Amino acid sequence: MWTARDTPAESGECRPCRTFGSGRSGRGGNATEPSELRHANHVDVGSVPDDCAVDLEEDSMTEQAPDHEQGSPTATEILKHEHQLVMLVVEAMEREADKIETTGEIDSDDVARMVDFSENFTDGCHHAKEEKSLFPRLRESNAGMQAPTSVMLQQHESGRQRIRAVDAALPAARQGDADATRLVAENLRAYAVGLRDHIGKENEVLFPMADGILSPDDQRRLAIEFDRIESEEIGAGVHEKYHAMARELAGKGA
Ligand SMILES: [Fe+2]
Repeated sequence: MWTARDTPAESGECRPCRTFGSGRSGRGGNATEPSELRHANHVDVGSVPDDCAVDLEEDSMTEQAPDHEQGSPTATEILKHEHQLVMLVVEAMEREADKIETTGEIDSDDVARMVDFSENFTDGCHHAKEEKSLFPRLRESNAGMQAPTSVMLQQHESGRQRIRAVDAALPAARQGDADATRLVAENLRAYAVGLRDHIGKENEVLFPMADGILSPDDQRRLAIEFDRIESEEIGAGVHEKYHAMARELAGKGA
């Protein structure tokens, strides 16, 4: 049972500016999720940083986390910055779904890039940092974090299923199959709505809780782990490719 008693008193800064619905469970959230998560429906998209990767030395993974310059982003700040990039693609997905539903026309190449971004950046890089590093650390530190991180993991998996459905329908949609095109739009929409809600919960509830649990040293260690995960999961320099892709997809609707 996840109760307010388990919630750390300290909360990190949150700058909400957008209202989002929830994912496959519909607006209002999943009835099984902790109440704190159910009420998080805002997320700050804000300005997207030029580079949300941190520049940390691999060989600094030592017993004692290294000192960093004042102002280095914390682990949760790094993840929030990545959310801003992810939201550019989520918005592009919503525009594509709108266009398909209105005109029946699909930009298959753009949808293929949305799938690529979602599989390799959102899931392969960003969610990997949360699942392999942040969430386990939070569960180790506080038994009360088991429930909220489990909800986040379920939502990651729901998103993967939606992206797989888009990918499966795309070849037929590219050939003009109307049913397949409709499936692409439905799953793009569901993925986008779900991820908006998910990011809102992380930005407004989970990360402030994490900021209250994690020490500055914990945050530095996690940031170093993120750097390692990023280089192992997507490779050096690939992060920049996905930054450019997100900005290009965002520019299409500007
Ligand atoms: Fe996230």
